[in-house]
Amino acid sequence: MALEKTVNEHIAALQPYEPGKPVEQLARELGIEGAVKLASNESPIGPSKRAVEAIRREVGNIHRYPDGASFELRVALAERLSLGGEQLVFGAGADEILELLAKSLLSPGDEVVHAWPSFAMYPIVVQGMGATPVQVPLTDDLVHDLPAMAKAVNDRTKLVFVCNPNNPTGTSVGRDAFDAFMEAIPAGVVVAIDEAYVDFARREDFPDSLAWVARRPGTIVLRTFSKIFGLAGVRVGYGATDPELADYLQRARHPFNVNRLAEVAALAALDDDEHADRARSVNAEGLEYLTRELVDLGVEVWPSDANFLLARTGPDAYDRLLCEGVIVRSTAGFGMPDCIRVSVGLPKENQHFIDALKRIRGVR
Ligand SMILES: Cc1ncc(COP(=O)(O)O)c(C=O)c1O
Repeated sequence: MALEKTVNEHIAALQPYEPGKPVEQLARELGIEGAVKLASNESPIGPSKRAVEAIRREVGNIHRYPDGASFELRVALAERLSLGGEQLVFGAGADEILELLAKSLLSPGDEVVHAWPSFAMYPIVVQGMGATPVQVPLTDDLVHDLPAMAKAVNDRTKLVFVCNPNNPTGTSVGRDAFDAFMEAIPAGVVVAIDEAYVDFARREDFPDSLAWVARRPGTIVLRTFSKIFGLAGVRVGYGATDPELADYLQRARHPFNVNRLAEVAALAALDDDEHADRARSVNAEGLEYLTRELVDLGVEVWPSDANFLLARTGPDAYDRLLCEGVIVRSTAGFGMPDCIRVSVGLPKENQHFIDALKRIRGVR
């Protein structure tokens, strides 16, 4: 290997993130056409029409660099979240904010506490900087064990990730547990609360993470336009934090990281409450249907505050569903080989998944 000694050791050791299999790949690999993809927690209802229109209007300007400050989006979002514009950092998806945090805060020898199983990008961005992920197992109910996570923080800890609701379990933590956790984290440790799925959460006592941004320097809330707003393909997300941390993250980012089409699409989608409400209700109905059907089939599921469900379908379900033209997410890499994660789709897609599952389980 010519580059063995040239490439950073911690990069060479990385296991790349495994995305949900694209429909086109299934067609290429297994010759299965028209598969249903319920693997990446995308919006089944598609993007807001207003976002699509905004992209159409903007497309003739793509020879120009975007506004590196994302000014219009910043003003609109700051108003919506009752924050100052200087508290927002935009990225090509929330993924990029994870990268910016890692790049800004971590060096070899530093530790980052996060739950496991949780979002697979956490260990990747941490190891990418030569730092060490400290993975704290979920409780028996597959919920973040916040007291254990607080205990895992030590002098080497620079950053803590809390994924709420958690991917891939869909479970969430409530306000009391979250507030007690935040009180327990020493000043100087950055707490990143990943709320990619917050818009689907239905529990009444969902934590008020933005109140902690106002109260505790070094707190950042990560959100995305990829989920409820249906803009996963254009890549835009953000972090909401205090002005000091925002300023450091701004220094670490590329000047034009959010492209023109993403900015106008996000701005238009933000205004389309009707679309977001529809996404939320299609999701709630789909979750109810999937839960009911899975429980009827004797499959264990966990309560989900997100747009997907974790289901104990047995160890071979992922591959057998693929052969039935249904792409879900294998959770084998999370140490849960007998489970799958299934995204909530449109009613006919959900039914297609349930029908396929019945077939592979021999239920008529
Ligand atoms: C928990 C969590 N955080 C962050 C992201 C990244 O989202 P984005 O598409 O904004 O990069 C995802 C994407 O699935 C996610 O599940």
